[in-house]
Amino acid sequence: MTQTTGVDMEKIVSLCKRRGFIFQSSEIYGGLGSCWDYGPLGVELKRNVKEAWWKAMVQERDDIVGLDASILMHPQTWVASGHVQEFVDPLVECKSCHLRFRADEPEEDKCPNCGGELTEPRMFNLMFKTFMGPVEDEAAMVYLRPETAQGIFTNFQNVLNTSRRKLPFGIAQIGKAFRNEITTGNFIFRSREFEQMEVEFFVKPGSDKEWFDYWLEERFNWYVKLGIKKDNLRLRQHTGDELAHYALDCYDIEYLFPMGWSELEGIANRGDFDLVQHAKHSGKDMSYFDEEAQEHIMPYIIEPSGGVDRSVLAFLLDAYDEDVVEKEKRVLLRFHPALAPIKVAVLPLSRNEKLVPMAKEVYVEVRQAFTTQYDDSQSIGRRYRRQDETGTPLCVTVDFQSLDDRQVTIRDRDSLKQIRVPVDTLRATLAAKLAGEALEVLPPGGSKWLGFED
Ligand code: GAP
Repeated sequence: MTQTTGVDMEKIVSLCKRRGFIFQSSEIYGGLGSCWDYGPLGVELKRNVKEAWWKAMVQERDDIVGLDASILMHPQTWVASGHVQEFVDPLVECKSCHLRFRADEPEEDKCPNCGGELTEPRMFNLMFKTFMGPVEDEAAMVYLRPETAQGIFTNFQNVLNTSRRKLPFGIAQIGKAFRNEITTGNFIFRSREFEQMEVEFFVKPGSDKEWFDYWLEERFNWYVKLGIKKDNLRLRQHTGDELAHYALDCYDIEYLFPMGWSELEGIANRGDFDLVQHAKHSGKDMSYFDEEAQEHIMPYIIEPSGGVDRSVLAFLLDAYDEDVVEKEKRVLLRFHPALAPIKVAVLPLSRNEKLVPMAKEVYVEVRQAFTTQYDDSQSIGRRYRRQDETGTPLCVTVDFQSLDDRQVTIRDRDSLKQIRVPVDTLRATLAAKLAGEALEVLPPGGSKWLGFED
């Protein structure tokens, strides 16, 4: 039996739709196969995932710089990279209903849809094609990039010359990629339009194995630091026949998705394949001058390549939890504060007009620092549940006592503990709590947390 996390994908899909995380693309027209739209909460979550990645990979390091290359590239790029030749899946077609399947998909030798006879396998390239300019002929054909990596390789010399880098150094990029996948499904796990977060890390040949191990550990820990349970992650080495045409070695960081262990991110040792290929096809020098050895070398490349959408799905699945509070079932997303779409919700105890001015004042103050939501509809209990279900770590409640003592209540999503703090220290307290500081380390004026169970 396939091992799974126990979280049902259907629950996540339905929560995502119900609460505005993710919708099917072009839903009013019946949807478009394997394309997804991120709603108000989804877009925040996705931005936070990308920001956390950029922070760890670029902002907090001095050996990686960023890039934002265009999606459309010179078609020769894809000849050099091997995608025109190698980025193919063998397909069979049903001679009756003309549906196409990956050759390894039908369990028997007949069409899974109508039982018809199947053709011999034919190679199908997964790159999307379009045309540049007004004439739609072969000469004007360009591809939508199937990976962001090639924009990095083709800019290697530009970045090297302008940012005065020495090996080892990396170039990071986040951006859209497109693949005309034959087998899609499992929600946003495999779609035809998705986003990648890739680093191409250039190293001296001979130091590549060391850097490969370094990146395996670094990337695994990134997911753990952002809250994914270690037990739901594993590293799996590619077997020889699985290795991509460019890879000397490759590991997948796999997550225990509802359909079983599946790839979340790939970390490959690409050797000097890409720079050699681009040098050959462009006629340009792609080498690096090693000042120590006084010679030109072709750097080796270690590539941690993750999917934004797959990470979003893993973070959603891993954060999903159900518990019982005051005898009622509670659904919650235990997001790491850095990923939570909304960090703070400001909730007046009721819509009483006396409370509104102060609640609005608190809201305006807090939203300058954190993504904040103001919610005054329905009972306070219902509003807490709503915020739990979308993973908001902290709720701030303004009540009648607040009008007298200018203190408000902060409620913690995970422990359900509450604390009253002066409005003057609210922002600092929220910041400390969101940064994961111990409850005791409160700014002056903060009082002790009041637990429900205390
Ligand atoms: N540059 C190397 C490369 O593109 P890959 O393993 O094909 O390697 C890297 O893709 C990551 O991109 C995967 O680990 C996955 O997270 C994401 N990815 C690939 N195809 C995808 C798809 N069809 N839908 C969603 N994410 C995808």
